[in-house]
Amino acid sequence: MTPEIDIYDPSLYETGMPWAGYAWLRENSPVHRHAEPGGPGFWAVTRHADIQHVSRHPEVFSSHAGGIMVPDPTEEQLSRNRFMMLFQDPPEHTATRSIVNRGFTPRMIGKLEEHIREICHELVGAALARGAAGGPVDFVADVAAPLPLYVICELLGAPAEDRERIFTWSNALIGADDPEFATGDQTPAFELLAYAAALGAQRRAEPRDDIVSKLVAPGEDGTSMDDLALGVFVMLLAVAGNETTRNAASGGLQAFFDHPEQWRRLLEDRSLLRTLPDEVVRWVSPVITMRRTTLDETELGGQKIPAGEKVVLYYPSGNRDDAVFAAADVFDIGRDPNPHIGFGGGGPHFCLGAHLARMEVRVLFEVLAERAPGIAPAGPVRRLRSNFVNSIKEMPVRLGG
Ligand code: HEM
Repeated sequence: MTPEIDIYDPSLYETGMPWAGYAWLRENSPVHRHAEPGGPGFWAVTRHADIQHVSRHPEVFSSHAGGIMVPDPTEEQLSRNRFMMLFQDPPEHTATRSIVNRGFTPRMIGKLEEHIREICHELVGAALARGAAGGPVDFVADVAAPLPLYVICELLGAPAEDRERIFTWSNALIGADDPEFATGDQTPAFELLAYAAALGAQRRAEPRDDIVSKLVAPGEDGTSMDDLALGVFVMLLAVAGNETTRNAASGGLQAFFDHPEQWRRLLEDRSLLRTLPDEVVRWVSPVITMRRTTLDETELGGQKIPAGEKVVLYYPSGNRDDAVFAAADVFDIGRDPNPHIGFGGGGPHFCLGAHLARMEVRVLFEVLAERAPGIAPAGPVRRLRSNFVNSIKEMPVRLGG
């Protein structure tokens, strides 16, 4: 027996997440052999425990040997990716991560909170002013998309006039399956890489109080990033930090529209802002999949998997696994504990920006609750055609009322 739907098909995700298909797989075929057009095929992993197992065993499930987004990477792509930590295995990954961790300490991230609050007030205030005439505004274009972009540019110390370019490159890189964003070539990747390498060279010459300067300066152990390594890292940040947080913000708002009682709960009790971000990330699962490649023959969920096979982790499915979550299909902003895997299933690649993302989501909903308590949908959303990110392209809302 096979699932009735093809969870690989990007067009499926244009109308919403295939929850019934995921549930079927968890129940009947939790490690499911799946065909893939133009690729070698893969094993779809849909249970929470199996996703954690794969994430925590990089010695068997390699990030380096296979593509994260590309079905069947060429040798050239693999060698280009070797500097990007998302594609590295220990010990290279451990070394890279120990350098980038210097820029992502709780202290460095904590310093951004007030700035994030100002950005949220600026964006929500401008959207309120635009909507004052009574017409709807697009929550994605006006709030969810610029918020993480402004934060990431601030984090990097990139000048405000470069925001638009970084935004366009990031869209083209992630939305490659969507005709509206795809350019069909590698130009955005190369442009962003060149931009970031130049930023690194500049900070090396004139250090500032920003992350890029921290990464290019030698740490206590004498290590630092060269321009290429830094360029690749900035490229990863521009992609990983923008789309994901945008999707959490818009998907989170959609969750409140679908569950108005949770919005009323928040308006009455702001202490829920503490647990809200993790429930939003569990519920939305902004990243749909990451993939690994087996280095040895192994067993997972009762299946024998040969060496050299692709294994794809379906985070949204793991986040609705009722073996782990009580009332998994209920959106509950007070859920605690919340061992979701929206930031990855643990292990060495666990999201570097998790603290930052939680903070952005928390502060955004704090500001929305304060300034736009009557926020409401004003038309149907348009979703991205992608089996990689759970993304809303357009979301008409009314902020007043
Ligand atoms: C890795 C999700 C926000 C930077 C990841 C992974 C996931 C993820 C699923 C892969 C984990 C794995 O393979 O085990 C998310 C979600 C976000 C978010 C859902 C927002 C709600 C951010 C932000 C940044 C960021 C704001 C930085 C500014 C990264 C980086 C990695 C990563 C650099 C690679 C880590 C490594 O390979 O060691 N994220 N992320 N993410 N994320 Fe995030």
